[in-house]
Amino acid sequence: MSKPRVLITRRIPDSGIRLLKIKCEVEVNPQDRPLTREELLLGVHDRDGVLCMLTDKIDAEVLDAAGPRAKIFANYAVGFDNLDIAAATQRGVLLSNTPDVLTDATADMAWSLLCAVARRVLEGDRYTRAGKFTGWKPLELLGLEITGKTIGIIGAGRIGQAFGQRACGFKPRLLYTANRPKPDFEAQTGASFADRETLLREADFVSLHLPLTPETRHYIGARELNLMKETAILINTSRGPVVDEKALVKALREKRIWGAGLDVYEQEPELEPGLSALENVVITPHLGSATIETRDNMGIVAADNILAALAGEMPPNCLNPEAAKAKN
Ligand code: GLV
Ligand code: GLV
Repeated sequence: MSKPRVLITRRIPDSGIRLLKIKCEVEVNPQDRPLTREELLLGVHDRDGVLCMLTDKIDAEVLDAAGPRAKIFANYAVGFDNLDIAAATQRGVLLSNTPDVLTDATADMAWSLLCAVARRVLEGDRYTRAGKFTGWKPLELLGLEITGKTIGIIGAGRIGQAFGQRACGFKPRLLYTANRPKPDFEAQTGASFADRETLLREADFVSLHLPLTPETRHYIGARELNLMKETAILINTSRGPVVDEKALVKALREKRIWGAGLDVYEQEPELEPGLSALENVVITPHLGSATIETRDNMGIVAADNILAALAGEMPPNCLNPEAAKAKN
């Protein structure tokens, strides 16, 4: 019997590729860039499984291009706003993501941004490199104290909760929003459930941990930025469109808020005009899960999901188990 055919749409760490190669015939995009739409449509054809990136839009057209052999599209990400779940379910194609393995790395990134903005780390770096450091000064590049502040977590899923657990060392008052109260998280961290408006009014630091859905698009817009304190910092490591980036640039330029730390962008990889000229923002290129260990583990998890689906089993991180019924 011929081996199942798997496409990996972009080079990932070797461990996941090796795992797939034991049982499958694997093709990896040889280019160091995402596949173009045409390449993706051609590339998925006649595959049993596809390991895809958050930069690949997997919709009805791609699923149809894959054809009847397709059993699974395994996303190399926890977020799955790039996948059309209804279209896949209708066609009996399973979808999966890579939760858990990137929770700590992403929470660490949110904290890296928060500390960098509050303590003006990047401004300090630019200043020092420019030769402006002429000796310690009592009033140079003063930032914000982090300890003892009110921290607002918007979305208390796995990553939001890991961010909250890390906060405890800073002896904060912790507020969070979520679809429903999380008693275990409250018991662990002393966090209190709040509505969006209260959290935005009271928090010194606001960190976004929402998935991107039609409901969360522009969750933070001009109105919400206006509710925030002038000394507040906004951190986004979730998905760019959760924030109205135009409104954010305006708020930062007018110093309506103190600063922002962004790892994701509304029109990724494009930046809203004016954003990169602002001193009070730290911008990183979607590095939430970018550690050697985590990217390795994401590949292994995605490969495990594909191997399960190809063996006729339910993938451990399946997003649409009901698709299994549609195929039979
Ligand atoms: C990264 O953004 C992910 O969703 O894994
Ligand atoms: C979201 O998927 C999370 O892990 O918080």
